[in-house]
Amino acid sequence: MELTRRPRRLRRDGVRSLVSETEVSASDLIAPVFVDATTAQRRPIESMPGHERVPVGEAVPRVREILETGVEAVMVFGIPESKDRRGSRAWAEDGVVQRAVDAIATETDAYVITDVCLCEYTSHGHCGVLEDDADGDPDLTVRNDETLDLLGRIALSHADAGADMVAPSGMIDGMVAAIRESLDAGGFTDVPIMSYAAKYESAFYGPFRDAADGAPAFGDRRHYQMDPANAREALREVELDVRQGADVLMVKPALPYLDVVSGVRREFDHPVAAYNVSGEYAMLHAAAERGWLDLEETAHESLLSIKRAGADIVLTYFAEDLAARL
Ligand code: PBG
Repeated sequence: MELTRRPRRLRRDGVRSLVSETEVSASDLIAPVFVDATTAQRRPIESMPGHERVPVGEAVPRVREILETGVEAVMVFGIPESKDRRGSRAWAEDGVVQRAVDAIATETDAYVITDVCLCEYTSHGHCGVLEDDADGDPDLTVRNDETLDLLGRIALSHADAGADMVAPSGMIDGMVAAIRESLDAGGFTDVPIMSYAAKYESAFYGPFRDAADGAPAFGDRRHYQMDPANAREALREVELDVRQGADVLMVKPALPYLDVVSGVRREFDHPVAAYNVSGEYAMLHAAAERGWLDLEETAHESLLSIKRAGADIVLTYFAEDLAARL
C-alpha cells in the first residue's frame, strides 16, 4: 500500500497547536465557592482537597484568590445558620448567600452566579416543599407547584443582593419560567438564567453533599432528578427550559454524561455549560494521592474532553488550579 495519507505529519511539535481543535481557557471556567454561616473560620472540605467553606466575612478574600488565577466567574453556594421545613433562610434578605453576594458584588469584579435550590436550607434536605399528607404522615414527594413560588423568591433575593446570573438546580418542573417571571417583575430583566436543565440523580455528588450539608435526611432525589439511564429524555428536559426562557443550558454531571453534553450542543444554539461535579474532582485527587494518576494531566484532559464534547462553559473545582497553570 502506498502511504500518501499520514495523519502523523500534523502531530509534530511545531504544528500540533496550530491544528488543535479545542482549548481550555480561564475565561470558560466557573469556580464554586462555599460560604458557611455556621463557622467563624475557613474550614477545609475533607473530600475535596483544596476547597474550603468560608465564613461570610471571608467571601471577598476567597473570591479575590480565585480572580488572581484568571478565573472571572464564581458560583456561590450557601450553608445557612439554621434550617427549617420550608427552607426559609434561602430567600432571607440577610441570608448567607445574600450577604456574601452583596459583599462580592460590591468589592470585586467577579461575575457572580448563585445556585438557586432549597436542599441546603430545608431540614429534610430535599430540593422543594414537603407537606404531611391527610393522615399526617410525612410526604415523601417534593410538591412541584408549591416549590415554584419559593424558587422565584430565592432568585429574586439573589438578584437583589447583586447576583449577575442565577442557576436553578432543583429539577422542579417549570422552575425556569417561575424564576424568569419573578426576576422580570422585580425589574431584573437583564439577569440571565443558567438552568441545570439536565441534572441526573448521580452518585457523583457525594462529596458536595458533605461540603454543603445537603444530603436528604430520608429518601433520595430519584423523583425529581433524572434517571442516569436516559439521554433522549435530557433533550426533552432541555427543550422545556429553552421554551421557558433559559439563557444557558447546563448538563450535570459532566464526564459520565458527555453524550448528553454533545447531544445538547448539537440540538440547541444556546451556550452549553457542564458541571464537573465533586465526585469527578474527588476521584482524581484520591487516585493522585496514591500516586496512581497525575493530577494536573488528568484534570486538564478531563476539562479538554468536556469542551470537546461541546461545552462552552465548565463549572469545576479544578478551575483555580487549571487557570493558574494555563
Ligand atoms: C443542590 C446541588 C447539588 C450539587 C450542586 N447543587 C447536590 C445535589 O443535587 O444533591 C452537586 C454538585 C457537586 O457534586 O459538585 N441542588
